[in-house]
This record gives sequence, structure tokens and C-alpha cells, in this order.
Amino acid sequence: MMHDFLAELLQCPVCHGILEWHNIERRREQIEEAEAHCTVCGIVYPVHHGIGFFLTTNLPRQDYWEQSSSGISQYFTEHPEVERELMAVPLESLHPADQFLRSLVLEDRGQYAEARAIAELAIPALYTPEYRTGWQSQMDYVLERLARVEGPIVDLASGRCYLAEKMAQQLSQPVVVTDFSPRVLRRDQEQFQLWGLDDRISLLALDARRTPFKDGAVQTMTSNLGLVNIEQPGSLWEELRRIVRGILLSVSHFYPEKDSQNGAAIRDLGLGDLLFERPALLRFVEAGWQVEIVNCYEGRALPTPPGTIMDGRIDGLPITETVLKWCVLVAS
Ligand SMILES: C[S@@+](CC[C@H](N)C(=O)[O-])C[C@H]1O[C@@H](n2cnc3c(N)ncnc32)[C@H](O)[C@@H]1O
Repeated sequence: MMHDFLAELLQCPVCHGILEWHNIERRREQIEEAEAHCTVCGIVYPVHHGIGFFLTTNLPRQDYWEQSSSGISQYFTEHPEVERELMAVPLESLHPADQFLRSLVLEDRGQYAEARAIAELAIPALYTPEYRTGWQSQMDYVLERLARVEGPIVDLASGRCYLAEKMAQQLSQPVVVTDFSPRVLRRDQEQFQLWGLDDRISLLALDARRTPFKDGAVQTMTSNLGLVNIEQPGSLWEELRRIVRGILLSVSHFYPEKDSQNGAAIRDLGLGDLLFERPALLRFVEAGWQVEIVNCYEGRALPTPPGTIMDGRIDGLPITETVLKWCVLVAS
């Protein structure tokens, strides 16, 4: 599940040296197993079970997928009665936030179809209609715009692949799914296999702040609320400018700068440059991009409600009611 053409586009993410490819095992037009040796610094990057691993070791990373999944399993080992309550009672008797948690547990166990059905049932009770419409209309806009574009599409910080899956289904170009979490990529791989879409995608473990792409190697890049999840982004904007020669379409939402309560939380989280429109656009401009926002839609958003079985909310933001501006940020 790594398309052959990618080998040409990649270099060492640490020193930018040329890679030499060895021991390549293919399945159809995709690389299953291989090793890419950097001819300059000697680091070896493996492709294993179809996933290319191009992570550098020098950047701090919080892999929440790794932590939250193992955290949930550990919690259930210590509290089996909570697991019974969450997994054994009739679905309809659970609070929607707990239904959503049940879908995460099922996903963790590889029961993807059931997990998805439950998540789809819970989501309307967790997010306002405007939140769902705002997000959906941005993904639709990206899909429509990409129908006219040729060549591979690199999706950044793909996570659960809400957008990447639609691209693989609806477009004809190859899609490159990326994330810094090997765990999330393995899960994505299993899901794409289940939906029969695995020939349409490649999987790369990489850090968006220091990618393995050569200068200008990416013609088209997408991100679906991906940028906002990149902690300590540093010179993310410059790195993306280095590798993208065409266009970046980023599904985004912005908070009103006047919103004092959410604003304070956003600043505490260090997300001001990503979640407020003016500084977000400025970061792109400073890194040499031309940027515009299109397809704007404003809609009410509420904090996701807490469940009754386990504490905590699904999303950290918003912490209080607000109006979000949804849009696609187009950078070129
Ligand atoms: C929650 S997803 C966003 C939604 C996703 N794009 C979708 O369409 O389903 C964000 C992802 O960003 C990943 N991530 C966070 N920091 C990253 C980084 N520096 N480089 C690459 N991926 C990163 C996380 O592992 C997570 O899976």
C-alpha cells in the first residue's frame, strides 16, 4: 500500500539526502516491503506491511491515538464493571457521548463497520446541525474542486480519514494518507481494505513539520482540520511551502477573536495561529504563500456534551457556545 511513484518523490526527512531503495517486495503496483537508505546520513527508513515509515526522531510528539487507546484499555482492565456498562447494555439506553465512546472501543477492537454505524447514530446528538453542515460543505467543496485536478493528492494529518476516504471513493487520482501515528495508519489500512479501497491509497508515517518530500514534489495537498491538530507547529508553514508546488486546500474553521472565553482557552492551548483567521492567514503569507479563504459558512457550535459513564468531553473546544466560521483555506 505504498504506490511505486512515491519512491521518486521522497528524500531523507532529516538531512534531505537522496534515498537508495533496497529489498523491494511488490504487490501489483505497490511496495509492500522495502528499505530506503539515506546516501548521506545513513538512516534507514522501512516500508513494512505496505506502510512507509519516514519519522524523524528529533521532534517532540504526543501520539494521542497511542495514548488514548491504551489508556481506555487500561481503564477497562481496572474497571471491568464500567466496560460491561458501556458495551453490554442496549445501545439506545446509552448517552450519545457514551455511544460515541463505545464506537471508539469497537474501532480499537477492529470492529469497524459496527463502530461506524454507532458513531453515525451518536454524532447528530453531539454536534449542532450547523457544525455538521459547515464541515460537510467544506469537504464537498474540496472534492468538487479536486475533480478537475490531475496527479496524486497528499492528505496531511489524515487521522480517521473522513476526507481521504471520500477522495479515494469519489476521485480517480491516487491518495496519499499521512499521519505521525503508526497506530492510526495501521487502523486506516484495515478500514481501507475492508471498504475495498486499499488500491487507491498509499500510507506514509511522517511528521508534517519535517516531511520526507523533495522540494516541490507535491502538486496537490489537502488537510481536513489537520493543521489545527499539529502541536508546536514551529516552521510547519515553511515546510509545506517547500514541498507543495501547486495548491493546498485546507478545510478549516475559525473562532471569533472577540470570543473571550474560547479565546482564552485557544491561547492557553497555543492554537491562536491556527484558530483565529487573521493570524492564521498571516502565517501563510509570512512563509511565502498566496492565500485566500473560500466557501465561507458561519454556524453555531456548542461544547460536546459529557457522557454519563466516563468523564470528559469528546472535543476540547469550544468550551462554551460560539459561532464558527467554516471555510476552505486555499494556499498556492
Ligand atoms: C483528528 S485528525 C484530523 C481529521 C482528519 N484529517 C480526518 O479527515 O479524519 C488529526 C491527526 O493529526 C495527526 N497529527 C498531529 N500532529 C501531527 C504531525 N506533526 N504530523 C503528522 N500528523 C500529525 C494526529 O495523529 C491525528 O491523527
